[in-house]
Amino acid sequence: MLAVPVGARGALPSWLAEAADPVVDPDWVAGALADTGNGGRPGGITNLPVPGRHPRSLVAVGVGDGTPADLRSYVSIAVRRAQTLAEHGATRLVLPLPEGAVAEDVRVVTEAVLLAGHRFRLTSTPHPPRLADVLLVAPPAAAAEVDALQRGLATAAAVCWARDLVATPGDTADPAWIADRARERLAEHPRVTTTVLGPRQLRSAGFGGLLAVGGGSDSAPRLVVATHRPDDATGRHVVLVGKGITFDTGGVSVKKNAGMREMKTDMAGGAAVLAVVDAVARLGLPVHVSAVVPLAENHLSGSAYRPGDVLTHVGGRTTEVRNTDAEGRLVLADALAHARLALAADVLVDVATLTGAARTALGARTGALWATDDVLADGLLAAGGRTGESWWRMPLGEDHVGHLRAQLDSPVADANNAPGDPGATTAALFLQPFAGDLPWAHLDIAGPARSAGDVGEWVRGGTGFAVRTLVRWLEAGGC
Ligand code: BES
Ligand code: MN
Ligand code: ZN
Repeated sequence: MLAVPVGARGALPSWLAEAADPVVDPDWVAGALADTGNGGRPGGITNLPVPGRHPRSLVAVGVGDGTPADLRSYVSIAVRRAQTLAEHGATRLVLPLPEGAVAEDVRVVTEAVLLAGHRFRLTSTPHPPRLADVLLVAPPAAAAEVDALQRGLATAAAVCWARDLVATPGDTADPAWIADRARERLAEHPRVTTTVLGPRQLRSAGFGGLLAVGGGSDSAPRLVVATHRPDDATGRHVVLVGKGITFDTGGVSVKKNAGMREMKTDMAGGAAVLAVVDAVARLGLPVHVSAVVPLAENHLSGSAYRPGDVLTHVGGRTTEVRNTDAEGRLVLADALAHARLALAADVLVDVATLTGAARTALGARTGALWATDDVLADGLLAAGGRTGESWWRMPLGEDHVGHLRAQLDSPVADANNAPGDPGATTAALFLQPFAGDLPWAHLDIAGPARSAGDVGEWVRGGTGFAVRTLVRWLEAGGC
């Protein structure tokens, strides 16, 4: 299939004739387009039937003004259409870049091809043929374009890995399995060291939150620490903490089925931070960065933790459990404290499918961001803007949230774990003390971590949200 990009004023790329398609000459395309009314609006797709060929093998796709968002739309639509044709055997897509494309656009297009075209399938189930070759047609490439292509490939490969981890059902993807996958994949990178702590080590290091949350499951918890430290590392130690609940039943405060069904995705934050380290290593970025992932299954059994229990976290802070379904913050608390006290973090960012309230506030396409440091917040928001991931900063200052702190009080512990509305912000307030005085950002991805359908670069299931933002942020220096 050939997907001709049509600009807002009907403009076609001057290199269309080089699109390796002998049948299609640009004048013919321009004439056919004029008849279809495709004015180049992003989101538009028109068949241009060529006599003697499959009627859908040539399509015109709107690319508007050619902004990065327009390019993502063009590529996603073309790839999605090509995937349906691939099921009938046509597994090749020719994708000319629009007129005026620069190196940055090559990266945008490369990521969009691989992300919109990504499919997860259990190896045990048969699957139809899928898109196999994509030919990007661009003006003669300089070093910058080749570099952009490689960066796009590395970034998208990492995002797809995160998606596959999220997609793997909870019966397979238990804490030990995720830890093994992390060890296996990151072993390919000489500058990455991965260590995994099991229950005995977690007990001696004081992980009271992680052990309690994982205590009801037959699959014991793990902590993965993956550190990328190249010789040329400049700047501070950035530690990315990701929530790794491999399945969230809610525990004895059990969820209803409608809310439990998708909870194999409750380790999306953990998958994201592991994928960031993978991408950073592939890209060879000169940054010292670690991923810390507390992995547990929040299940219910005779050994499960219960409301009323008082837990002691790494570093000694205590929590009164009021709701065993507010488990994410309990495992993040230990991991943040461990990052600060044992790993000598200079900057902390956590990523978590933490609260239904974040999704209620912002919907399923936008991540919620809290930060104690404006430079950190601005850097993350800017990186998100460049990658097409959308974030919204939530308040954490005294004026806005000071009065909420009393809701965290407990008669028996330093805090309780279910401090009430506004639930996404009170969860952030619960976590804040564990970051101490370090610059800290908290990313709640309960909305955008999974997609209900195929939209833009997302396919149904795990989206890999936050990976591209964090990779871009680290490319820009990371703090
Ligand atoms: N994993 C859930 C949050 C979630 C909900 C993620 C929906 C994605 C979609 C989390 O562990 C949870 O259950 N949070 C509770 C907290 C409450 C009990 C204080 C929630 O949001 O209801
Ligand atoms: Mn929960
Ligand atoms: Zn959860």
